[in-house]
Amino acid sequence: MYPRYRILRKTETIRLLVAESFIKPQQLIAPLFVIEGSGLKEPINTMPGYYRMSIDLLLEEVVALTQLKINTVLLFAKCLDHLKDNTGQEAWNAEGLMQRSIRAIKKQFPALTVMTDVALDPYSIYGHDGIVENNTIINDRTVEALAQMSLSHARAGADFVAPSDMMDGRVGVIRQTLEKHGFHETGIMSYSAKYASCFYGPFRDALDSSPQFGDKKTYQMDIANARESIKESLADENEGADILVIKPALTSLDIIHQVKQTVHIPVAAYQVSGEYAMIMAAVQKGLLKEESAIVESARVIKRAGADIIITYFAKKLGTLLSEQ
Ligand code: PBG
Repeated sequence: MYPRYRILRKTETIRLLVAESFIKPQQLIAPLFVIEGSGLKEPINTMPGYYRMSIDLLLEEVVALTQLKINTVLLFAKCLDHLKDNTGQEAWNAEGLMQRSIRAIKKQFPALTVMTDVALDPYSIYGHDGIVENNTIINDRTVEALAQMSLSHARAGADFVAPSDMMDGRVGVIRQTLEKHGFHETGIMSYSAKYASCFYGPFRDALDSSPQFGDKKTYQMDIANARESIKESLADENEGADILVIKPALTSLDIIHQVKQTVHIPVAAYQVSGEYAMIMAAVQKGLLKEESAIVESARVIKRAGADIIITYFAKKLGTLLSEQ
């Protein structure tokens, strides 16, 4: 019966000895949804066990995360309806919710790495990631807006801005704008391969940012294709991105693998809201074991080649890792 493959699987100790991929809390990013008000922790219907929080409670959440060695957060702000328009200008309001959140967090946790979502959809009356004219998303004007938004986040103290919009050329323009204004140390974590996916549905519920017409297929990638994710990841790297993001994670394991082989900068995979919802729904119905589902999904994302995982399970993963 030689070879005896099962020798390396005989005990937990041996399995760990030869394991190729590990999850580290320091390489997890926790997405956080921030809302106006105080003392507020609102459940998100489509994301069981996940919440939108006002700044004061967000700070408490950060304490819990850092105790688990999760030292990076990705902020998303829920814009009030009356501040939405078709220019996105609230997105670079120095006193906007996002900017106040960044300042509050950096003040209390200077060593925390604060990343911020850069895209117009939460600020758009149309729920699109760009400025709309005649039912079309206008690329270049949107890019200018995203550069303003990035600059205002940098001014508020963000360590990384994370453009998630998928407009062409935005990384280069954001980099030039940051340089021109003296922000030589602000990083860009760019979504270089973001697929047009139904798995973002729960997130749009969380931020009330669903497209009001059409879909996002004219800017997010076609799930049928792999090569454009390589092309655009290399382009984002050349334009000055520091970290690339691929999403969704579990439906893009092949893409994570290929991009990781091709680029020279760290690759993050985003286990998105629909992936979270899918697992939680199965757990709630008693169909899956929560801990195993969370750890297994994170582990295969690592195995595919992700250096970093952005996940709504960050805190639960951190807790599980701290118990080992
Ligand atoms: C907005 C944005 C989206 C996500 C991250 N940034 C939604 C979208 O593109 O419609 C999705 C994240 C998730 O589903 O968890 N640009």
